[in-house]
Amino acid sequence: MTGNLFHKAIIGTMPYLPRGLVWRFSRRYIAGTTLADAYGAVQALNDIGCTGTIDVLGEDITNKEQVAAALILYREALDGIRDNGLDCGISVKLSALHPRFEFAQRERVLRELTPKLLELAQLARANRIALTVDTEEADRLMLTLDVFAEVLADASLKGWDGLGLALQAYQRRAFAVIDWLAEQAARCGRRIPVRLVKGAYWDSEIKHAQVEGLDGYPVFTRKANTDVSYIACARKLLANRAAFYPQFATHNAHTIAAVTELAGDRLDYEFQRLHGMGRDLYGVVMQEPGFRHACRVYAPVGSHEDLLPYLVRRLLENGSNTSFVNKIADESIEIEDIVADPLETAASHDYAAHDRIPAPNDIFQPERINSHGINLPNRSVSKQLLEELEAASSKAITAKGNRRR
Ligand code: FAD
Ligand code: 2OP
Repeated sequence: MTGNLFHKAIIGTMPYLPRGLVWRFSRRYIAGTTLADAYGAVQALNDIGCTGTIDVLGEDITNKEQVAAALILYREALDGIRDNGLDCGISVKLSALHPRFEFAQRERVLRELTPKLLELAQLARANRIALTVDTEEADRLMLTLDVFAEVLADASLKGWDGLGLALQAYQRRAFAVIDWLAEQAARCGRRIPVRLVKGAYWDSEIKHAQVEGLDGYPVFTRKANTDVSYIACARKLLANRAAFYPQFATHNAHTIAAVTELAGDRLDYEFQRLHGMGRDLYGVVMQEPGFRHACRVYAPVGSHEDLLPYLVRRLLENGSNTSFVNKIADESIEIEDIVADPLETAASHDYAAHDRIPAPNDIFQPERINSHGINLPNRSVSKQLLEELEAASSKAITAKGNRRR
């Protein structure tokens, strides 16, 4: 997928890096290479009052054999979590369950992938384990929502509040997606666990929109705007706890403080962090008097090869000069700057897009405008295009008929 070009370019360099170096990085971010390792890691987390969510690594798979292998691992994990008596959920990437998880294959994906997710959700329900669907690239969002809605509405899951979804605040659609999710919750009479994240694919979203010559970016281009979106989404989720069980996945101390403040005294929400990240931060936060919220740790498990895309996202996230974890480690940055109020920062730019990130159409200016692409995975765009094509073809048929007469 072009959406992954950026990641793929970096992953392409990995084989040339010393294996030991890659492996040393990897060990920090994964809970284990086997499920047995991951159960041990989750047990250790449970022992210190944290819950877990196991992520079976492997994404963007390309053939049916890989789907079958992923399904076996997910089933094994769901049974293993139950058999080991762990307080742990499971996280699933839909791109691991279909070799063509893309908009152009929508009908096929709905026909073939939905039953697979449903089967995993049924097993999760039977084993009393929460299942969260991870969110991936922006051009897969609508497809993800379609699959999610179908599974959520399935009669076999009636009365179960364990099927959740990750929501990326850096997407400009995030706030509206919450309204759509609230409608689904009401329609199915269910409470949806929503894991609010900022989003892990920012660099590749920017590159993808430029390569495709889209009208705009699907994500915010200023970090402060993403932070403001996160806080707005947090407020909206917390205000509707009949529909949502909010889960706040962040390693940013300011964001944790903002959420704690917004949430008030009700404790029916949780924080989440990634394995290998945020341990010291949550170690401190969880000692705070009155802090009684659960902290869940996302625990990836898999082989060296399956880890690479995940590892690249972590390295980009940790290495970015906009990220909290990077800034907090930089002693030259004043603490006031690190915990600056994002609302004030965003307002000081009038909430505008970043002035050094030109719109996708303008990246070659002043020489020329970029070639223009059509954002087909956005259903309102593709619907309009289809209507225009139909109108144009019926006009052409009428004109042809008139000429014949
Ligand atoms: P911060 O440093 O406050 O924020 C960094 C984030 O800000 C970047 O990741 C990016 O999203 C955004 N950002 C950076 N620069 C800019 C800019 N110039 N303009 C606009 N925005 C910018 N991510 C997913 O995509 N899908 C998932 O399903 C998912 N699941 C997760 C589960 C858990 C438990 C956790 C902890 C994280 C998960 N993530 C997921 C990853 C998550 O998106 C990143 O860890 C998160 O964005 C880092 O945000 P932060 O609040 O910790 O840090
Ligand atoms: C990722 O895979 C954690 O889902 C997030 O980067």
